Amino acid sequence: AGQRGIEALLQAMTLEEKIGQLTMLDAGGIVTGSGRAGDLAAAIRQGRVGSLLNLVDPEQIRDMQRIALEESRLGIPLIFSLDVIHGYRTTFPIPSAEAAALDPDLWRRTARAAATEAAADGIHMTFAPMIDIARDPRWGRIAESPGEDVLVARRWAEAKVKGFQGDDLAAANTLAATAKHFAAYGAANAGRDYASVDISERLLHEVYLPPFHQAVQAGVAAIMTAFTDLAGVPMTANVAAVRDVLRRQWGFEGVIVSDYSAIQELINHGVAEDRAAAAALALRAGIDIDMMGGAYEKGLPIALEQGSARIEDVDAAVRHVLSLKEKLGLLETPNKGGATKAADPRLRDANRALARDAAQRSIVLLKNERSLLPLDPTTRRIALIGPLIDSRSDMLGPWAALGDAQRVVTILEGLRNALPSTEISAAEAVDFRGQGDREGIPAAIEAASAADIVLLCLGEDRDMSGEAASRAHIDLPGRQRELAEAILALGKPVVAIIMGGRPLIIDWLVDRADSLIVSGFLGQEAGHALADVLIGLYNPSGKLPVSWPRAVGQIPISYAHRPTGRPFDPENHFTSRYIDLPNEPLFLFGEGLSYTSFNITGLSVNAKRLGPSDTIVVDVDVTNEGAREGEEALFLFIHDPVASVSRPVLELKDFGKIRLAAGERRRLQLSVAVADLGHLDPNLRPVLEDGAIEVLVGPSADRARLRSITVEIVTEQQRSA
Ligand code: IFM
Repeated sequence: AGQRGIEALLQAMTLEEKIGQLTMLDAGGIVTGSGRAGDLAAAIRQGRVGSLLNLVDPEQIRDMQRIALEESRLGIPLIFSLDVIHGYRTTFPIPSAEAAALDPDLWRRTARAAATEAAADGIHMTFAPMIDIARDPRWGRIAESPGEDVLVARRWAEAKVKGFQGDDLAAANTLAATAKHFAAYGAANAGRDYASVDISERLLHEVYLPPFHQAVQAGVAAIMTAFTDLAGVPMTANVAAVRDVLRRQWGFEGVIVSDYSAIQELINHGVAEDRAAAAALALRAGIDIDMMGGAYEKGLPIALEQGSARIEDVDAAVRHVLSLKEKLGLLETPNKGGATKAADPRLRDANRALARDAAQRSIVLLKNERSLLPLDPTTRRIALIGPLIDSRSDMLGPWAALGDAQRVVTILEGLRNALPSTEISAAEAVDFRGQGDREGIPAAIEAASAADIVLLCLGEDRDMSGEAASRAHIDLPGRQRELAEAILALGKPVVAIIMGGRPLIIDWLVDRADSLIVSGFLGQEAGHALADVLIGLYNPSGKLPVSWPRAVGQIPISYAHRPTGRPFDPENHFTSRYIDLPNEPLFLFGEGLSYTSFNITGLSVNAKRLGPSDTIVVDVDVTNEGAREGEEALFLFIHDPVASVSRPVLELKDFGKIRLAAGERRRLQLSVAVADLGHLDPNLRPVLEDGAIEVLVGPSADRARLRSITVEIVTEQQRSA
């Protein structure tokens, strides 16, 4: 069709049809029947809807598309969209888990696999990747986030966009990606979902926006605005962020979609008195698609009549939507993908291996005293205890699309497969809500008493994180602590395995368990992957993408905090600290052990004086000093000790992984362009300043374990002077 075709369509459209293109309806209800199918068909026939979400049955998809093509006046195809977050039929680890793999190629491949499965059912668009920086584990959506760090989120954004979209959006196996939620949704006050956000402009521009900029640079097709306000201006109506930054500054030309019902919710935010005002505000900010809520459909005609909205803005929004349809190839092949009916089962089996690989890489080992792990294969009796041990649906985690609990390998199944000649006694003992007793704590004590080693699997269920699942107390819910205390009191060797959607407060447990493994929900292959790690078939390599606080009082928390004028000094009372807790988190960003150990030596840098167009290239020798093959992630941080504004104590600028055989030593190279060392000056203008920069390389954000070297940055003026 091309631009001319789009313009011709636009010319032919009535106002109602234009607004229809800007309207996205939730078709989920159709699946359960009811009269809504008829209503929806009528709306499509009348051209009052341009896209649907939550319709997944390939036949229903084709049916609705047929109505749009054959029975609506202009025959414009619909876009079918869904939250394909961490898999479609095959369920991969949740994002906060997969982020621990620190492996952009893996991140890309799981998105690619999910896109292939979803597109085969006729889905065209996903509401992913979610790239909200999350530094408050009370917020339930931390489960969907790649974590606290800007660079990790930027690489995640790029990998996921490329994975979902492939090279060609018109191909039959790609999805249009939607980077969400623009922006700073993760900074919701006190971690309460949908609550107000009030952060500095600096934090917004230096921390929360860069992942979105990266997504735009990677060619993301769509952006979804956040439910939240930013210092009083809801993102759905935020001209400064959406129009000025996203559209003008970054040149984003794709589709901007509201979150579910968020335009209508401008009334609740207290910035619009009715739907017409809400619609006018959103349109002015540049929101193209109204996802549910009906504000555009009901409010825009009135706003246009009143003069608070302009038809030029409506037309611009329609152009964005039609261009996406064109890029998706829908104007020529409206039934792409979906024509294949359901996903090919062979494809699902191919993705199973990827799901296991991804799950293995997402597991983080945080403690392994007495080298209890990997388990000795001759162990005679193991007690597997806790409410997660045989759960299928919890392993899928939140937003699991068509993930099928029946295909999940539970922890118990995985362990029994892996250790066929070990006697494994299982006791769920308690549930997450502190209500049911199941077989109860006494039965767990009995099982543990008779065992040589206890695996204690604790955490959250899948409904305790994700959207609208914030928690004020982020400890182990229900009677799990009581259970754990009873087991620990027996004095048996204990491996604690903590799973959930967020970091949990487990300081009391860490000292007392011999080994500790943590992960987010690992998806369909959870049981296999965990067993692979427990028996040493896979040597763990995951690292924490978020800090684990000791207590809720430390939140918000991040390794990239700024220095203080009064750094903690045990000899001086008037220094920055808690009187009842250390400042440091329980676990730092980047922590994660292996069954082998790595040593870093020979840090060298390509130049000691560098100009703005140079790149700092750092080499280190990494030696695997243990007896088994393993993979290590290393980080390159910088610290700018003297600048026009106080800079974070550490800022991640590169990371990479290296796999080494036992005893092997190799060099790993990490780098950062000098241009990426800049920051915003006191007037929020980007600046690259002269002076010393400390470059640090090591296995985590633990400064004590980083090797460092100092380089000098000289601007062009100074160099030529
Ligand atoms: O994509 C989601 C979003 O993240 C939260 N609200 C609903 C949307 C569509 O399901």
